[in-house]
Amino acid sequence: MSNASEVTQDFLDSAQYRTESILLYENVYGEDFVSPGGRGMARELIGRMHLPAESRVLDVGCGLGGSAFVMAREFDLRVDGIDLSKNMLEIANRKLEAHGLAEKVNLEWGDCLELDCDNCYEAIYSRDVFLHIHDKKRLFSVLLGALRPGGQLLFTDYCCGPEPWADDFTQYVSDRGYDLHTPEKYRELIADAGFTKVIAEDISKRFIEILRVDLERIAGSGLEPPVRDKLAQSWQQKLERSLGGDHRWGLFSARK
Ligand SMILES: C[S@@+](CC[C@H](N)C(=O)[O-])C[C@H]1O[C@@H](n2cnc3c(N)ncnc32)[C@H](O)[C@@H]1O
Repeated sequence: MSNASEVTQDFLDSAQYRTESILLYENVYGEDFVSPGGRGMARELIGRMHLPAESRVLDVGCGLGGSAFVMAREFDLRVDGIDLSKNMLEIANRKLEAHGLAEKVNLEWGDCLELDCDNCYEAIYSRDVFLHIHDKKRLFSVLLGALRPGGQLLFTDYCCGPEPWADDFTQYVSDRGYDLHTPEKYRELIADAGFTKVIAEDISKRFIEILRVDLERIAGSGLEPPVRDKLAQSWQQKLERSLGGDHRWGLFSARK
């Protein structure tokens, strides 16, 4: 496998996930979260998995640990979280200690493409992480291997509309090193890896609603005006790209 196009820990920690950027994102998404819809969306999606208490779940790209904390505290699940950003994990592990959830949750540095565990998990959950990963074939093959037979995969991810895209969206995707697919193409990638019962939903309408609420939150935040205005501008651009159909949001589930 060629890793040449994959983003590295250095790239993430020195650009999109610098500590100050993470804390800004947390201002928008809500405490412990760096993904659209924050805690409310996490709660809803974890509920959809209908997992028995004590099930073992892998949270791929756990970020600040928000979803893992909800899984442990509200759903009585045992969670391993991995993330490639050391900045994220440093904050996440401080939060884990403060929440007193260390018996149920373990958060570690790691690249999900290098997972080394066969038949370990009843479920794999991931929120807006796979946009960073170019080798989707390897990704889904590794995740399939890590699930127990009958286990489920559930994730959300940034997606795109069919090309050609507006220049602004092309630039945005390239600046961040994202690898995006249409929800339909994603469905094929998951099925081709050997998953069954693959469901792909385009939830872009929900994304647009969330972005509008985020914009109100940014406007009402106590952030200094230059920082607040820059953040509002970047969210406004995201909203416009979504309304234009280039930027989409997908929800996916599948079984081993
Ligand atoms: C948008 S954040 C989402 C964080 C978290 N899932 C949440 O909902 O708040 C994407 C996360 O994916 C992580 N990530 C990117 N590539 C990764 C990889 N190859 N392995 C593990 N984590 C990765 C990033 O470091 C970042 O924390």
